[in-house]
Amino acid sequence: MTITTYVFDAYGTLFDVAAAARVAAGEPGQEQLAESWPKLAADWRAKQLEYSWLRAVAGRHVDFWQVTQDGLDWALEAAGLAEPALRERLLALYWELAAYPEVPAMLEQLKQAGHATAILSNGSPDMLEGAVCSAGIGGLLDALLSVEEVGVFKPHDRVYDLIGARFGCAREEVLFVSSNGWDVCGAAGYGFRTAWVNRAGAPLDRLWAAPERVLDDLTTIPEITT
Ligand code: LAC
Repeated sequence: MTITTYVFDAYGTLFDVAAAARVAAGEPGQEQLAESWPKLAADWRAKQLEYSWLRAVAGRHVDFWQVTQDGLDWALEAAGLAEPALRERLLALYWELAAYPEVPAMLEQLKQAGHATAILSNGSPDMLEGAVCSAGIGGLLDALLSVEEVGVFKPHDRVYDLIGARFGCAREEVLFVSSNGWDVCGAAGYGFRTAWVNRAGAPLDRLWAAPERVLDDLTTIPEITT
């Protein structure tokens, strides 16, 4: 079936989540972070996601900005870097994460071909607005859909339901694109067509469904039309 609607995960897929720690590590006075930022970035991301899943399972939802701060606090303490000024700087940088370089041209091609485009993310509406504004890609996306509309994190089916509710399309008309293996498995199990962007060459997640395609980056997304 022809794909009409191209839906992207935000953090890790369109936006480089390691950029906040990497940028802060290059700033004056951050010698300790300069050595340890890759581990800090990985711990921050791992805890942010772990907390999102635990809150979904326990039925104790808070928004993604809260779990982002909670994950950072854990990671900073683990690194021996629990300083308020660094915390504030990293959080500020999270609102203006760089998009991967191929993102604007890829979205431009999809729009020129007349397709619908959207973000479907754990991110709160204001986080998503901040990210697309700072990356200058807001005009290339028809919708920024946040889990806050349903009050539970991915990979709950109620989140993926937001796409059909917004665009009125069948599940098989949607190409769902994510760099998060567990997210793309959730979307595949839901019945979306899927592409996993596996920049790091990670193993396939052993979950309840597998992605249809595995890509190195986002460049070839507009070539996927059926
Ligand atoms: C998101 C998280 C999973 O953007 O990165 O939904």
